Amino acid sequence: MSAPSMTLYYHVASPFARKVLILLHETGQIGRVNIKPVTVTPVNPNVELCHENPSGKIPALCLADDNVIHDSRVILDYLDHQHDGPALIPRDGSARWRRLTLASLADAVLDAAVLIRYETFLRPEEKRWSEWTDNQGEKIARSLAYFEQEAITELGATFDIASITLAAALGYLDFRQPNLGWRSSYPRLASWYYEVSQRPSMLETQPVG
Ligand code: BEZ
Repeated sequence: MSAPSMTLYYHVASPFARKVLILLHETGQIGRVNIKPVTVTPVNPNVELCHENPSGKIPALCLADDNVIHDSRVILDYLDHQHDGPALIPRDGSARWRRLTLASLADAVLDAAVLIRYETFLRPEEKRWSEWTDNQGEKIARSLAYFEQEAITELGATFDIASITLAAALGYLDFRQPNLGWRSSYPRLASWYYEVSQRPSMLETQPVG
């Protein structure tokens, strides 16, 4: 196999980076990427990463020609154009907008879960704002209720951008909020997640921290 031609800046606990790794596994491209772990928090940026991505956020993908692609949504789109298998982001038609919209809702779950993590772990205790955290939790609950009630059949149809993003989000909730107990409120989502969690791409990319 030829040497990896791209470098992925990543953190083993980042659900945004996990989305990229899942897609790389699903599309047979994992060997094309040199994975570069970086330690980064909103109050402790990584100098090398900031050079590649001025926002200082992971994931960032450095290409062979030294161009850099970010954020995770753009990286997924780029990588989905670099393989010969079925597209994981529909290229056109109503399916494209529907699947991207479901992915966006799953990204909202991810955003809220990461913000809760920052608020409850990074922010000094005397500065924490419980109303704000509660609202992030409500955003997660409304979104999961939508997936449970309105989108469960669509999710099961294919493992693509929407499913990858939601699987990364649910995995992150289990990782950082293990006592949330979302499965009892969303049993169909729980059953869907159990199934997709058995995929090699999910097993190979479990968060650590
Ligand atoms: C975390 O430790 O939860 C985390 C790390 C990197 C990005 C987002 C979240």
